[in-house]
Amino acid sequence: TPTNAAIDPRFEISRIDRRIFGGFVEHLGRHIYDGIHEPGHPSADADGFRSDVVELVRELGVSTIRYPGGNFVSGYRWEDGVGPREERPRRLDLAWHSTETNEVGLHEFARWLELVGSDLMLAVNLGTRGTQEAIDLLEYVNADADTAWTRQRVANGRRDPFGVRMWCLGNEMDGPWQLGHRNADDYGKLASRTAKAMRMLDPDVELVVCGSSGSGMPTFGSWERTVLEHTFDDVDFISCHSYYQERFGDAQEFLASGVDMSRFIESVVAIADAVAATKKSDKRIMISFDEWNVWYLHNDEGGQDDKPREPGWPVAPRLLEDQYHALDAVVFGDLLITLLQHSDRVRSASLAQLVNVIAPVMTEPGGPAWRQTTFYPFSLTSRLAGERAVSVPVTSGSFESERFGTVSNVNAVATVDEGGTSLFVVNRSTVDAEDLRIDVSALGAARDAAVSIVESHLLHDDDRYAANTLDDPDRVGVVPVPGIAVEDGILSLSLPPISWAAIRLG
Ligand code: AHR
Repeated sequence: TPTNAAIDPRFEISRIDRRIFGGFVEHLGRHIYDGIHEPGHPSADADGFRSDVVELVRELGVSTIRYPGGNFVSGYRWEDGVGPREERPRRLDLAWHSTETNEVGLHEFARWLELVGSDLMLAVNLGTRGTQEAIDLLEYVNADADTAWTRQRVANGRRDPFGVRMWCLGNEMDGPWQLGHRNADDYGKLASRTAKAMRMLDPDVELVVCGSSGSGMPTFGSWERTVLEHTFDDVDFISCHSYYQERFGDAQEFLASGVDMSRFIESVVAIADAVAATKKSDKRIMISFDEWNVWYLHNDEGGQDDKPREPGWPVAPRLLEDQYHALDAVVFGDLLITLLQHSDRVRSASLAQLVNVIAPVMTEPGGPAWRQTTFYPFSLTSRLAGERAVSVPVTSGSFESERFGTVSNVNAVATVDEGGTSLFVVNRSTVDAEDLRIDVSALGAARDAAVSIVESHLLHDDDRYAANTLDDPDRVGVVPVPGIAVEDGILSLSLPPISWAAIRLG
């Protein structure tokens, strides 16, 4: 039988920036309160952080975590979250119609990041606030000088600067739902002014300007062009946000989500490079895909799932607590493959979000924490991905997508490093199994040794809607890929319909 793919390190896409395995924590629903922070919980440490959640987030393997929003940041006064806890004000959170107690703020969150082993990425409020407040925050966080702000930082328990490198210039400023929403011209000017001021204070910061909240936004494209015309010299990244969901019961169309993400990235790259060309510049703006996930945001009637369900202004209400099934996890795995396939330009990405809120980790107050189905593709890709991404073109069956035409059933990417090779592969077909025979002889030749399988993991469930729940937290997981083998330089495996796999070769 002929082979239908090959892994050859010479087909390198790019060195992978580990920040592609980032996460996102917003003050939203039960993410912080009753999620990562629950002082009364049996596993809580002296600061009130649940250690069962810390362990799961460590296992997930998130590099950089974007904080504190999201829509929340566009009304946030960061000063409310520092200083003695008993003096911190309770505030209305207009974005999520909740009450923010400010029990957790910058210092507490930075401490939690030390526990989970991730770096901090901060967003400044360019919704209700402006340049002055952004540089005040930057001074408080990064300045190594004796000033009123740094004295406050020291008094609040932190002598050394936090040293935060990546900063988002606001959040989703193109969205009419955003506090302080403005048009591309107005936002571009504000972002440029703010970026320049931030760099005067700390030239080492890396800045992310807001791109579109999704490629379906009416201003998509023109927003990126205008914003970059204003900020091209001031920023390093432009953001992309995208959420996917099965709609109208069409699983096959949902399984084409990776194609949508791919086109989104390529469109933004094209626009950024077009702006570079008009400026006669070699500079390349990178992409921070700083919100991506499956999210059941829309119902089939066109309504949205982001409205509060409790009356009044509750503290930590149950919001956006999507339960993910096997199909969601397969699409999710394909989105990770897509990010790696574009790792030459996607240098940072944040899974939105981490705990309870559209999250891979769920918790019950006073009770257990568990892994959703999407936990597995993220933790495995983060753990197994090596230093460099390599493209793996595959010949496979295909299906017809309403939006994207003919779409391949199989999508794959590999990574290589000194220790070996990792392959990430998805079968998007709802009906066909795919038998793969992948020529891996180039890997053996490069190492002068036979290629062997170190570990393999298959995510598939005959019930595509099977999910992990409080009562049945281990219903869906991964198993070794049945029948996988390497012989005479050919890796062979069979992928059932709607499945995702990660394979480590030594
Ligand atoms: O992640 C949930 C929300 O989605 C974020 O607050 C916002 O930025 C986006 O619309």
